[in-house]
Amino acid sequence: MHAYGTARVNKEGHLEVGGVDVVSLAEHYGTPLYIYDVALIRQRARGFKETFQKLGVSSQVAYASKAFSAIGMIQLADQEGLSLDVVSGGELYTAVKAGFPAERIHFHGNNKSREELEMALAHRVGCIVVDNFYELDMLEEVAKERGEKVDILLRVTPGIEAHTHDYILTGQEDSKFGFDLNNGQAEEAFQKAVSKPSLKVLGIHCHIGSQIFETTGFKLAAEKIIQKLADWKEQFGFTAEVLNLGGGFGIRYTEEDEPLQPSEYVEEIIKEVQAKTKEFNLAMPEIWIEPGRSLVGDAGTTIYQTGSSKQVPEVRKYLAIDGGMNDNIRPALYDAKYEAVLANRVNDPVEETVSIAGKCCESGDMLIWDLPLPKAGQGDLLAVFCTGAYGYSMANNYNRIPRPPVVFVENGQAELVIKRESYEDLVKLDLPLKVTVKQ
Ligand code: LLP
Repeated sequence: MHAYGTARVNKEGHLEVGGVDVVSLAEHYGTPLYIYDVALIRQRARGFKETFQKLGVSSQVAYASKAFSAIGMIQLADQEGLSLDVVSGGELYTAVKAGFPAERIHFHGNNKSREELEMALAHRVGCIVVDNFYELDMLEEVAKERGEKVDILLRVTPGIEAHTHDYILTGQEDSKFGFDLNNGQAEEAFQKAVSKPSLKVLGIHCHIGSQIFETTGFKLAAEKIIQKLADWKEQFGFTAEVLNLGGGFGIRYTEEDEPLQPSEYVEEIIKEVQAKTKEFNLAMPEIWIEPGRSLVGDAGTTIYQTGSSKQVPEVRKYLAIDGGMNDNIRPALYDAKYEAVLANRVNDPVEETVSIAGKCCESGDMLIWDLPLPKAGQGDLLAVFCTGAYGYSMANNYNRIPRPPVVFVENGQAELVIKRESYEDLVKLDLPLKVTVKQ
C-alpha cells in the first residue's frame, strides 16, 4: 500500500487514516463513505505557502474549490490562510455560507451570468477573472450601475496546453477559455479594460491544464506572459501587480504517476518568473496559484462495501461495490486509474485479480480494471485512494442513488462535514403531476 499522508495499517490489519480506524468509520457512517485526511490537506497548503515565503515572494495560494466544495472544506482552507477560487454562483454561495473572507475570493468562469456578477460584486469578492469580451462589457455595466471600481485579472490562453508529461505549443489555442495571447485578443481586451473607469486591471491569469507532472509548460506560459507584459509596459506604461498561473499540479494516483512535490513546482516557477521579470526589466508581480487537486486529491479515500461478484470464465472476475460512477465518475469519463486495498484486511496476501464494478445500470460503470486483491467476500471493505479531488464535486444521482457522506479525520477524531443524502432528499424538488386523465 502506498503511504498517503497519515494512512497506515493498524495492528488489526485495518486501514487507519488520521488516527481513526476506517472499519469503525464504515460501521458508524455506512458505505460508500468519503474520508479526508485533514493533516495532509494542511501539510499541502503549508507546503505551497512556505515555498513562497522562503523565496520572499508575495503570493496568494487560492484553493480551486471546484475540486471539492463544501462548507467544512472552505472553512479548512480559511484556517490555513488560503484564498479561494470559485467558478459559479453556487461555489460562491458555499464560500459565503462558510464565512470565507470575500476579499480573498477570486471569481472565475467562462460564461458568468449577470446575476452571478451582481452576486460577486454584492459580496465584494477580491477580484473577477474576466474570460471574454461579453463578460468584460457586462461587468463594466454592472460595476457602473453599482458605482464601484472592480479589480480584475484578464484570463489569457498563452498557447500552451499541458497534461501530465506532455505539453503542446500552439500559435492559437483551441480552447473555450480566455483571451488568446498570440492573436491580438488579449491586447484588445487589455486596452478595453484599462479604458473603463469602473475596472482596474490587476494583472493576468492563465491556467494551462490539469494533472501536470513537469514545470516546462508553466515556465513557458510565464515567459510568454511576461514578454507580453513587457510590451504593455512599453506601449501603455502598464505594470501588472499580479500574475496568476492557475493550478494543475499533478498528484500520484497510481505507481505510473510521478509528480513533483508541490513545493518543487512552485519553486521552479517562481525562479523562472524572477529570471524573466529581471530580463525584461519588470517589477516582480505578486504570484497567485490555484491548486485544487494537489491540495485535496490524495487526502481523500472512498470506502465501499463489496457485494455481488461474477466470474466470466477465462476472461475476468467482476466484483461489485455499493457505489461507483455516482460518487466517482472519473474512470468512466477520463479512463482515470486508481489503486485500492481491502480496508479490513490490508495485510492479507493477494490471491486474485478482480475488476471493480459500480452499481449503476451502465456497462461503463467500472471503477478499477484488474486490481490485485485478497479473495474478497460479501461485506469486505474496499478503500479506493486519491478520490479527494473531483470525486464528491462531480458526484451525481444517476439511478437515483443518494450521494455518500463526507467525513474529515484528524488526530484520532472524525467529523461529519456532509451528511448522506436520503431518499427524501432525492425527491424534494419533484412535484406531483397536477394534470389528471379521465379513465
Ligand atoms: N484554476 C483554473 C482556472 C482551473 O480551470 C482549474 C481546473 C484549476 C485552477 C484547478 O486545477 P487542479 O489544480 O485541480 O488541476 N474534472 C477534472 C479536472 C478539471 C479541472 C478543471 N480546471 C478531473 O477530474 O480530472
